[in-house]
Amino acid sequence: MNFLSGIWWSLPLVLVWATPPVTSSWWYMGAVGSSRVMCDNVPGLVSRQRQLCRRHPEAMLSIGRGVAAWTAECQHQFRRHRWDCNALERGQRLLGRLFSPNAAPVHMAGSRESAFVHAISSAGVVFAITRACSQGELKSCSCDPKKKGSARDSKGHFDWGGCSDNIDYGIKFARAFVDAKERKGKDARALMNLHNNRAGRKAVKRFLKQECKCHGVSGSCTLRTCWLAMADFRKTGDYLWKKYNGAIQVVMNQDGTGFTVANKRFKKPTKNDLVYFESSPDYCIRDRDVGSLGTAGRVCNQTSRGMDSCEVMCCGRGYDTSRVSRMTKCECKFHWCCAVRCQDCLEVVDIHTCKAPKSAGWISRT
Ligand SMILES: *[C@@H]1O[C@H](CO)[C@@H](O)[C@H](O)[C@H]1NC(C)=O
Repeated sequence: MNFLSGIWWSLPLVLVWATPPVTSSWWYMGAVGSSRVMCDNVPGLVSRQRQLCRRHPEAMLSIGRGVAAWTAECQHQFRRHRWDCNALERGQRLLGRLFSPNAAPVHMAGSRESAFVHAISSAGVVFAITRACSQGELKSCSCDPKKKGSARDSKGHFDWGGCSDNIDYGIKFARAFVDAKERKGKDARALMNLHNNRAGRKAVKRFLKQECKCHGVSGSCTLRTCWLAMADFRKTGDYLWKKYNGAIQVVMNQDGTGFTVANKRFKKPTKNDLVYFESSPDYCIRDRDVGSLGTAGRVCNQTSRGMDSCEVMCCGRGYDTSRVSRMTKCECKFHWCCAVRCQDCLEVVDIHTCKAPKSAGWISRT
């Protein structure tokens, strides 16, 4: 049983890198054939998620891809920050952790970092499902059927053509699947998660852009064909990173049906803002219970004055410097026409990494 569930979750992540046209793989066929068995063995799914898994087994593969995309994005956004997105375990248990009731370490549950993780992970599911619809990988959806016929914009008439990304389906699916976990609890944490999940879904839609192609005599653009396309996932990541930095602390209101801003001097959160309940720890030392890996061994920047500076990143513990050599492309020359040829150069760089705390006692006194 455990073996099966292991295959189920580790393979999608591997397949993403190895073989993009997965529809023809043996695993895909096998999974669809025995979706009941598979879905019953995914750890951490609530019953509603299991139902969705059985009904849309092929969507689970897309969700696996979404997980790969959002974890990479999370790591990218937090690369200069003490909190390390690797604190969320990679691979097989990732989905289980994300979608099971105690997905995040207990104390991380109400933090700003948790808010970001909920937003970016639901955004990742929206993105992956929407993309899968456009690529014809799911039986239950296709390109946006509403984008048909002719329409108008500021430049005049145009015809909908090609394939418009069906983001409304992606959002609907992500809401049903990701939010299913929160429906049961009507506590503060569930409200917070639902809010941040929705902010994440909306963030993807924000970067849906109309793209057009001109037709007509010598590109005169008298005829235009347009479609809606999602932007690169990085745009969503950058946007949610800004929202993370401006996240608003809230408290549950008296009757427990919603929340209000904790500090009345700050603005009320909108549906696009991330909200959190609890202040974060400093993430300097390793503490699994709060989702902190500590910063020992993290790379810091000696010349920076920001979050990634060695002072801030290493929490004043100091850092080690090691000299590493690596090959880079250099002395690149342009050859007529049209090639760029480079030499391989050996480059020597200093890498600074944070020292570990000397002892637990030393840390607790600082
Ligand atoms: C280190 O920080 C400086 C100043 O912010 C920046 O110019 C430089 O590119 C950074 N180096 C690396 C390796 O990120």
